Amino acid sequence: MLKTSCLVSMCVLAATTLAHAAGSESEVVESLLGRMTLEEKLGQLNQIDGRPSADEPNVPHVDEEQVRAGSIGSLLNVYGVEKTRRLQQIAVEESRLHVPLLFAHDVIHGFRTIFPVPLGAAASFDVAAVERSERVAATEATAFGIHWTFAPMVDVARDPRWGRIVEGAGEDPYLSSAMAAARVRGFQGHDLAANDTLMATAKHFVAYGAAEGGRDYNIADISAQTLHETYLAPFRAATRAGVQSVMAAFNEVAGMPMHANTELIQGVLRGQWGFDGIVVSDYNGIAELIDHGVAADRKAAGNLALRAGVDIDMVSGVYSGQTPSLLQSGAIAVGRIDEAVRRVLRAKYRRGLFDDPYRYCDPARERNDILTAANRAAARDLARESMVLLKNEHRVLPLSKQARTIAVVGPLAKDAASMLGSWSAAGREADVISPLQGIRSAVGPRTRVLYAKGVDSKSTGRSGIAEAVRIAREADVVLLFIGESHDMSGEARSRSSLALPGSQEALARALRATGKPMAAIVFAGRPLSISWLAENVSSILYAWFPGVEAGHALADVLFGAYSPAGRLPVSIPRSVGQVPIYYNHKNTGRPPQESVSNTSKYMDIPWTPLYPFGHGLSYTTFRYDNLRLSAPRIRANETMTVQVDVTNTGDRAGDEVAQLYLRDDVARVTRPVRELRGFERIHIEPGESRTLSFQLGPEELGFRDTGDALVVEPGTFTVFAGGSSAATLAAGFEVIGDR
Ligand code: BGC
Repeated sequence: MLKTSCLVSMCVLAATTLAHAAGSESEVVESLLGRMTLEEKLGQLNQIDGRPSADEPNVPHVDEEQVRAGSIGSLLNVYGVEKTRRLQQIAVEESRLHVPLLFAHDVIHGFRTIFPVPLGAAASFDVAAVERSERVAATEATAFGIHWTFAPMVDVARDPRWGRIVEGAGEDPYLSSAMAAARVRGFQGHDLAANDTLMATAKHFVAYGAAEGGRDYNIADISAQTLHETYLAPFRAATRAGVQSVMAAFNEVAGMPMHANTELIQGVLRGQWGFDGIVVSDYNGIAELIDHGVAADRKAAGNLALRAGVDIDMVSGVYSGQTPSLLQSGAIAVGRIDEAVRRVLRAKYRRGLFDDPYRYCDPARERNDILTAANRAAARDLARESMVLLKNEHRVLPLSKQARTIAVVGPLAKDAASMLGSWSAAGREADVISPLQGIRSAVGPRTRVLYAKGVDSKSTGRSGIAEAVRIAREADVVLLFIGESHDMSGEARSRSSLALPGSQEALARALRATGKPMAAIVFAGRPLSISWLAENVSSILYAWFPGVEAGHALADVLFGAYSPAGRLPVSIPRSVGQVPIYYNHKNTGRPPQESVSNTSKYMDIPWTPLYPFGHGLSYTTFRYDNLRLSAPRIRANETMTVQVDVTNTGDRAGDEVAQLYLRDDVARVTRPVRELRGFERIHIEPGESRTLSFQLGPEELGFRDTGDALVVEPGTFTVFAGGSSAATLAAGFEVIGDR
């Protein structure tokens, strides 16, 4: 009996796939579209959340009858070969038109092998390593039947109160664009139909990171200039890198909610940029148009979103419920529905699902391609590349080999869950090497490692401080592991304070009073205002959330096997009161000067950040000189080559992140005081000099006007080269001729 049914199903499948395979993309898509009922079309636009309940983790929360009826086109939160195969089988063998399902999931910084959170990965300034991390993530996720990820998040964020700053690449549009393109390439590879590539999603379109007050989901009320130059930039880069889907943002931009924003979705994204992939709503985002106050009811919400060009309705059920009456009343034309369905079918075709709907259902890959030694090695590499040495006085780091007793203190030292960060897909605590484990495995037999938690990460209790002080007194050096726990950043985790939570500063003060050499290792999904640490602790290493290999990577850095070279992708404020604070600000008519009154500054604190964008130290030192230009002047359509020599002036090898900034001195509209326009992470041996070349063409010299056109204005420009946004080595040139 079993055999017969298998045979029957194989025959059905063979007939199905053959029928689909026999045709080009447009033949397959148009033939299906021509045969679909309205309900089947709307099914393709309907995405449901199939997340299994905690009681039945192996049973997706899906009504199989709906799959059979063709009423579901894609699912999120269902993964695993067995689960996806079962649902796929119903779709392709039991539904009338045999259209395969798409399985989507948030694979944000790794699937099972968890990499540093995206903000940390951006601190590596290593585009190739970030691309590799997504290759690993794609290999693992596709081995679990996933076709589509809701990543990368490419939202520029200048307000660290916003918890989702952790998911992006920080405050700068140039770095964010480079990271966005790298992640898209990493996920999608060269061939979307390969069984180890994932369809990527650039999200959240657009300006979600400009949430007023840093409060998640809040409005973005920004100028057209800021929108086009800053917030749209990484989406432009992702589109150029070939991203196949874009997610609409929850927020409004200047009065128009993004799920109804025809001007930006149809006009800019599809019209001006030529994006031909899927636009997916955010979770329930279409129905929320009612709460925004632009739709009176679900029907009006569906109408607005369809017109704006949102193709897939993630979980609100508005499209499947309301579209028939919209069509009947003539509010929407069937052509608009067909357009959206076409895009979904094309995505399925490009994933190769019409050739073989089970190509992502290989149990051998699910067993073998996960958390491999190579994947862990890639995670360790990126984790140590992501760590930023903010300060290192008295050379507390790297730890001396002579240290006999090390006191490991703090709530984050053993917190494996926090090492995984805010959005860890299939990551497991049990896979994590905690900081304490990493340190214990790195020291020799003659070194004692003492441990005390001291305080909890969030609570205000102080009873453990005495024990921490006691072990510190016994030690040669104190390593203090503090910061936020993983659940303090991410979605819906905005904070009004950027201070160390709970009693952690009190712990640091008590340890400082012992007079022992101390290094603080700070974990967080955002920049924290750590002024007291900066003034009182000799060494500070900013570690973000490093992922599954946290402990090994930290040990590599702390004991000096690896010289840190991470750079801040975001300014660290002195106080939350400085927010928003970013390096590429405007000069104003009264540029800030601490010693001059009536200039743009504060009465109570300096106007500068605690640590600027691009800052980060190394165990060695670097010198920049010989900044030279290929010509004193160029035309607006030409390219300037900028060269600079970088020398390792210390006594050990290390990586350096060379950065190039540009200022457009005078233009018709005001320009930032400087903007990152090139960077390169290089390895230099002691005493060695390297010459770096950067190209400044129209894309680098120009800016976007409010119609999104690239404008290069004649006039003088200044370039700065160095190891941070505070670089002072400068040279000038001129752009001549017409705009
Ligand atoms: C988030 C998205 C995410 C989606 C699906 C939403 O709440 O804003 O970033 O992709 O959920 O999990």
